Parts: sequence; structure tokens; C-alpha cells
Amino acid sequence: MAGLNDNYLKLPGSYLFSDIAKKVKEYSSNNPDKSIIKLGIGDVTRPLTPTIIKALHDAVDEMAVASSFKGYGPEQGYDFLRNAIVENDYIKRGINISIDEVFVSDGSKSDTGNIGDIFGNDNVVAICDPVYPVYADTNAMAGRAGNFISDQGKWDRLIYMPCTVANNFVPQLPEKRPDLIYLCFPNNPTGATITRVELKKWVDYARENDSIILYDAAYEAYIKDDLPHSIYEIEGADECAIEFRSFSKNAGFTGTRCAFTVVPHKLMGRSTDGTRCSLNKLWNRRQTTKFNGVPYIIQKAAEAVYTAEGHKEIIQLVDYYLDNAKMIRQGLQKIGFQVYGGENAPYVWMKTPNNLTSWQFFDLLLNKISVVGTPGSGFGPSGEGYFRLTGFGSKENTIQAIERIQGAF
Ligand code: MLT
Repeated sequence: MAGLNDNYLKLPGSYLFSDIAKKVKEYSSNNPDKSIIKLGIGDVTRPLTPTIIKALHDAVDEMAVASSFKGYGPEQGYDFLRNAIVENDYIKRGINISIDEVFVSDGSKSDTGNIGDIFGNDNVVAICDPVYPVYADTNAMAGRAGNFISDQGKWDRLIYMPCTVANNFVPQLPEKRPDLIYLCFPNNPTGATITRVELKKWVDYARENDSIILYDAAYEAYIKDDLPHSIYEIEGADECAIEFRSFSKNAGFTGTRCAFTVVPHKLMGRSTDGTRCSLNKLWNRRQTTKFNGVPYIIQKAAEAVYTAEGHKEIIQLVDYYLDNAKMIRQGLQKIGFQVYGGENAPYVWMKTPNNLTSWQFFDLLLNKISVVGTPGSGFGPSGEGYFRLTGFGSKENTIQAIERIQGAF
């Protein structure tokens, strides 16, 4: 009989959003007459925009003709997309990134999970608390998280960096040095943002301590204020940070799948015998071996995001979701709820009323008014007593959900 990766057996329950989907499915089949409003998982609801759809159609037509048909593409992504990324997301912001530092992929969920492949399993990992569960779970799968202490809801080998009202949901620098530090801004789940001054502290810390920051910037398009869109806006970040970016939340690619990860040439790791090695080379080796690239038609659609028209359309898309987030914020504040995030970010993070636990509040909203959110405790122990709602619903559903919550409290 084949042996297992025992680390999988240490994982508690199932993946957070699968747990929620199961509960909602059960509720829906027991209450077929109820109209459920889902503001739980951060999944977009608006269709792909006209410029993106046109690029997709054109690319499909190319695939129908022998002379323009494409088979396997470069595992790192086509140059047309990597160039558009470099030009628009970096050069225009005064950031010097070269195309061979950009790796196009099928999503930031996969990349933030898979990046662990190139790091040793004895690395010490720091995560925010609350946190996007992928960072914790994938490190647990690799054996880096140790054992799960269920009564604390924590892994005993991870460093938890609490993000609370007291620190404005931006963590303090850890007391004990981690090798790998996951940061996500604008933040999932709290909707918190980070200033350049605060981000510089992290970059300086990582450089001083020889740590690597894994910076998830999947929600950067939601930034309207003067805040950093990329960690590479901070000097020296190319020596200590990998950045994850996505087309899911800015351009509606959650079902279309396209993202990219930047691994600068200057980034180094150390082998067990002390040799310094390029992380870019290792990630390239990993991707060329385990990944066959994002479909051509999808990369053409992603390229269209950077055209003048495409860009205008996605700004409207982001503004639509930001308006929803604002309505949620204001609607909940009106009934006296303590609300955070939802500005420069699509997520609204709220304190549960009446000292309800996160799951009690989840059950109450689902069973009483058929509204689905995400229990804060699912993101980590410091999320207990909090709840996340997303701005990614339709405007109509968002208005209705707020009215239902207002009616219930
Ligand atoms: C979330 O709801 O936290 C995100 O949608 C999950 C994801 O992007 O994978």
C-alpha cells in the first residue's frame, strides 16, 4: 500500500470555502423557496468586458486556422503578455522589472500555494492572523506548519502575526525571525491597506534578516488612494520579495484563470550546503517541469486588459465592486455595526454583533435572512468574532442583502 503525505492528515476539516459551500447547499436544498444572496467567497459576478471578450473571440478564431494555431506555449507565458505586464504594471510606475522575472500562471491561489515547492521544509513561516487560508494550509501540506492545535485554531510551527483593531489590521514586525513572510495588501480578509512607510519597514526588516516576503497584491486594482500597488515601489524589495498579481479581481477572470508572479533575479535562497541560488531559476525550473502555461486564448484576453479601452472598462468594473463595498460599509454602520475595510479594497470586515461567534453569526444570517458571508474565524484565531462580506455581488443583491441585515438587527 502506498504511503501518504501524512501532513494532509493533520489538516483540520476541509478548505474554508468548501465548508461554506456545503452548508449553503444543504440550506438551499432544505429551503428551495428561499432566494439566497451570496457575499461569501470573493467571486466576481460581472461579465468579462467587451474588449476582453473581443480579444478572446479573435484568439479563438486564430486557433481555427492552421497558420495561426497554437499548441504548447512558453511555460512562463507569451512575451506579448509579459511585455504588457512589465510595461503597464511596472515601468509606468517607475519600477524596473524585466520580462524574464514575470511568470504568467493560472492563478494567485495556485502560485501562493505552489511557491513553497522551491523552499526547504524547515523554513519558519510567518502569516498574518486572520489570513487567506491558502498560505497556512499549503505550508501545512509541505510539513512546514507543524501540528494543528485545535483548541487554539493554530499550527504550532507557524508564526502568527495578529492583525487587530489595535494595529489597524497591519501586523507588527515579528519578534522571532521568520524565513518566509506572507503579506497581502489590500488585505484579504480584512480589507486593510498598507502605506509606503509601513511597507518599507517590512522590506527593511526582510533585508536585515535575510527573510523572503511573499507579497500577494491580487487586490491592488482597488487602491484609489496614494498607497503602494506593488511592493517593488519600495527600494530594495527586489532583493527580498516575490509578488503575486492576478486578473481575477480586477478584470473578472476568476473563472477564466490568469495571473502572474514576479520573481526578481536578485532574489537568492541558500541550499543546505550554504550555496546561494537564484529563486528565479528555481521557479523557472519548477514551472517548466510542472506547468504547461496558460492557454493562448486566455493570455490574449489578459493582454486586452492593458489596451486603452480594456483599461477603461476594468476601472469601471472595479468601481462597481467598490461601490458595493461602500454600500455595505455604510449600510452596516447605519445600524451601529463596527465595520472595517471596504475602502481601497473589495472586502468589508465587521465585528459580529451581540458577541456572537463568527460561525453563530454565519448560521444566523443564513437561516434567518438567507445571506451568506464568511466567518472570520475561518481565517485564523484573531478572526473570531468577525465576519467578512464581499463587494463582488451584483448591486441589486448587495442592496437587498443590506436591507435584510438592517431588518434583522
Ligand atoms: C476569497 O474569497 O477569499 C477569495 O475569493 C478566494 C480566492 O481568491 O481564492
